[in-house]
Amino acid sequence: METLRRFSIVFFIALLAYFDFLACAEHHVRQFVIEPRPVKRLCRTHQSITVNGQFPGPTLEVRNGDSLAITVINRARYNISIHWHGIRQLRNPWADGPEYITQCPIRPGQSYTYRFKIEDQEGTLWWHAHSRWLRATVYGALIIYPRLGSPYPFSMPKRDIPILLGEWWDRNPMDVLRQAQFTGAAANVSDAYTINGQPGDLYRCSRAETIRFPIFPGETVQLRVINAAMNQELFFSVANHQLTVVETDSAYTKPFTTSVIMVGPGQTTNVLLTANQRPGRYYMAARAYNSANAPFDNTTTTAIFEYINAPTRRGRGRGQIAPVFPVLPGFNDTATATAYVNRLRYWKQAPVPLQIDENLFFTVGLGLTNCSNPNSPRCQGPNGTRFAASINNQSFVLPRRNSVMQAYYQGMPGIFTTDFPPVPPVQFDYTGNVSRGLWQPVKGTKAYKLKYNANVQIVLQDTSIVTPENHPMHLHGYQFYVVGSGFGNFNPRTDPARFNLFDPPEKNTIGTPPGGWVAIRFVADNPGAWFMHCHIDSHLGWGLAMVFLVENGRGQLQSVQAPPLDLPRC
Ligand code: C2O
Repeated sequence: METLRRFSIVFFIALLAYFDFLACAEHHVRQFVIEPRPVKRLCRTHQSITVNGQFPGPTLEVRNGDSLAITVINRARYNISIHWHGIRQLRNPWADGPEYITQCPIRPGQSYTYRFKIEDQEGTLWWHAHSRWLRATVYGALIIYPRLGSPYPFSMPKRDIPILLGEWWDRNPMDVLRQAQFTGAAANVSDAYTINGQPGDLYRCSRAETIRFPIFPGETVQLRVINAAMNQELFFSVANHQLTVVETDSAYTKPFTTSVIMVGPGQTTNVLLTANQRPGRYYMAARAYNSANAPFDNTTTTAIFEYINAPTRRGRGRGQIAPVFPVLPGFNDTATATAYVNRLRYWKQAPVPLQIDENLFFTVGLGLTNCSNPNSPRCQGPNGTRFAASINNQSFVLPRRNSVMQAYYQGMPGIFTTDFPPVPPVQFDYTGNVSRGLWQPVKGTKAYKLKYNANVQIVLQDTSIVTPENHPMHLHGYQFYVVGSGFGNFNPRTDPARFNLFDPPEKNTIGTPPGGWVAIRFVADNPGAWFMHCHIDSHLGWGLAMVFLVENGRGQLQSVQAPPLDLPRC
């Protein structure tokens, strides 16, 4: 009897392993060496921080169900950590990456292996440094294909092209940050945007390296557009060609066709493009969607689609014909941005939580900190102040002695508190003319506790303090549904009636309409400390962030795993 039982257990385990083999789940072992490398852009060479000497960094291609072990070796002179943007990291916050939230940074000379599994996710995500401004050059695509034999909900083209939109400073980005942190003023705007690391034809010393994509007439390709820019929402468009949106933030959408998309920092958008125009050369281009009343980089990055049968010019001035340039919306074209975002729908009926346990209302926006000596070199913000930003008037300060997750796990007091307010401390006309007395937030490291499996709704309300603005709000550890949005102040009596609870888009990063609100819902089924913040790095540095502490449920399968042994020391 005993032998039979043992045999059946062994048999069962063998069977499980066999199924895993059939499903072809792979284990990917990679090394990311963080090291400075000379990178020449805009006529000048900088020692940029890179991964394995590559800029942008390597593309990770995996399948749903695969596991990864990525050893990050820090050979740079800065602390660093890497975040796998959009990966849910179920019960495994240790692999999430934001420094001082789920881990302490990897010190120069040290290493850490991020071990995680892709669980029920497919599509375009990306990875980036989550330590000060290192992500300006430390980022790359993370592509998750469906399990073998599992179909796409649309006809998937053979050719698949990652388009990483980035932002380039003709300086060391860490110095740009340091200067801004010293003066309290806004950081210098970038000098260029880039497509796959290259600024393109419209910038000095860049033409020879402009990215070109040969394309066959009649061919359809998929573009995986990733906004890896530090501080700017971008419009993206391809001359004379329509784009069919099929996925955003690794969630499929009902396909729709548009001539321009808007992508906020942190967001991804997959589009299909068919080469159905006259054989020729066509620019793809990205430039700012700037909703704030603030300086911004108003340059345009380009790459070129080249039909392989494009005619060439003959006789004098022989060579390639000039590419056609796309029509891009105006920099402040909020109408176009809003109309585009409002067309996004989940590809099928979405399992949106209907009964809400936690009804949160968060004001998000900028602020100013007053200085006792407004003439101080450290107070070069508007009228002798320092810039700040906050959620519910709380300006988030990263802890320094430990990470929030470790302090929580070890029960170490004094690193953070759990009194983050669920509603703003004072009610006011958020998008009106806000009295000066409400411009200065308070600093702190506050988290908000959520019960395991709570159904959560958050209304993110932009304020007009300093300036109304589109804030791309990103939640770690989760995908959420965007059930509603609007301009002005959220009205809890009338607005919920118009929520889309049927097929709202699923996202990990959503922009607040400038001077408006957006409502999101999710089930708190992933225990751990999860950062929520504005993905505009300037705003993150000013404190536009908070942490959700999701408690364990019952038993191991609803609890945070034990931390890995090589988790960096604090
Ligand atoms: Cu892609 Cu916390 O960020």
